[in-house]
Amino acid sequence: MHQPVRVQLLPSGKTLVVERDTPLFDVLFAEGVEFPCGGRGRCKGCKIKVESGTLPIAPEDEQRFTPTELAQGWRLACRAIAVSDITIALAQWEMPVLADEAALEFTPKDGYGIAIDLGTTTVAAQLLDLRTAKVLAVRTDLNAQVRHGADVMSRVEFACASGAAELTQLIRAQLGTMTRELVESGGISGHVKDVVIVGNTVMHHLFCGLDVAPLASYPFESAATGLQTFRASGLGWELPGDPIVTFLPCLGGFVGSDILAGILAVGMHNSDAPVALIDLGTNGEVVVGNRHKIVCASAAAGPAFEGARIAWGMRAATGAIAEVHLEQGKVRCHVLGNVAPRGICGSGLVDAVACGLELGLIKPDGRLQSAERWELCPPVYLTQSDIRQLQLAKAAIAVGQLIVAEHWGTAPGQLERVYLAGAFGNYVRRSSAVRIGLIKSDPDKIVPAGNTALRGAKLALLGPPDQDWSFSWLRARTTHIALSQHPQFQELFAQEMSFGPISR
Ligand code: FES
Repeated sequence: MHQPVRVQLLPSGKTLVVERDTPLFDVLFAEGVEFPCGGRGRCKGCKIKVESGTLPIAPEDEQRFTPTELAQGWRLACRAIAVSDITIALAQWEMPVLADEAALEFTPKDGYGIAIDLGTTTVAAQLLDLRTAKVLAVRTDLNAQVRHGADVMSRVEFACASGAAELTQLIRAQLGTMTRELVESGGISGHVKDVVIVGNTVMHHLFCGLDVAPLASYPFESAATGLQTFRASGLGWELPGDPIVTFLPCLGGFVGSDILAGILAVGMHNSDAPVALIDLGTNGEVVVGNRHKIVCASAAAGPAFEGARIAWGMRAATGAIAEVHLEQGKVRCHVLGNVAPRGICGSGLVDAVACGLELGLIKPDGRLQSAERWELCPPVYLTQSDIRQLQLAKAAIAVGQLIVAEHWGTAPGQLERVYLAGAFGNYVRRSSAVRIGLIKSDPDKIVPAGNTALRGAKLALLGPPDQDWSFSWLRARTTHIALSQHPQFQELFAQEMSFGPISR
């Protein structure tokens, strides 16, 4: 390669090394990017955003984007030529942000409110009419901080290396723009009364301008986990009525107000019987509780559920094997978009391993029976390393369930319901999740619960005027535990790496 240039892709963080003057169209298709109009520069469906470096503006870019958008770095991937090192965010790679249309119980109030789920990868925000709880406008976006790391620990590292102020400024500016756009597209005439934000502990600290250093090293606990309030104008936001912006409090460790909101959303705090809420992500969370007592923990699962670090892994997009099942002993793959397979996403991976176990192609210890790789649906195959990645992820979540349930005083199999939060939890096949030991419950007790963080934020927004915004009652009955400090953690983790008989 004469003059190599580096193209870093966000949010995955993957770097491609290509020849200078390579059209991005040639290399991004293999990465799962779609070109809806065939790369003719007409549909804008392939848009990307330059986060650092330079990507020349093509004539089609000038036709499709406004001068402001061009200045912000938006380009058409199908017309882009890599002339130097760049970092680009792929808008198509935004995680599916689940719309939350579930009916809510609420107390009618005057004015408007905004609920925001501030995720590490994506941000989802809704404008609501507080009299009717009707959603008037929705905005979703890739978290502007992803250019400084795909996961919470890389954000913490960047912040500790004197990048904290930049991360705070980035996310405050982004949410300021999103809330202003919500108000504009909602066409409202009155005041915004409240803005409620939920997010994990790192997002909480970075938005609020708090020191993340305590989250960078053992015991990974910060004392500043409480509720934080701001005036919109103090954040530089232009909203009618200059509302109070409230970031709800964290529960401890890395377990933030997104999980507190999830507890509200699934009604755990009102339940007589113990139930579980599990958020399956790179940083997974496990909560077990009822109206008397709640125990929570975070579990470092790694990115396998998102298709990362898997040989043919990709997001759940056209060409991804999203489901695998057996038909008369033969493997059948369902590919999104009914096209030739281009890769496999998290739900397909869980299904595939469940089928491999059923067929005896994968042994209970995770080893492939007879070959180095399993040709699943050519050209897509699974390697030994792929299966290992899934074992690590599922073991982390499984140990979380065992230890949290034990701390509560029960066992995972005794729980009345297991709510799965988030996009992956919504799409994974329940029987496969149980078969590989990811969820330690009966399939019929598992309930896909959607975007519980956003729903919980809306419930907080719509609560009675005299509600306790600090949620001290809920925090007082919640115990956060550090899984790795459990005396049997290592032993349990080794045990849960197995796909063998399931202990509950
Ligand atoms: S693929 Fe349609 S504009 Fe690029």
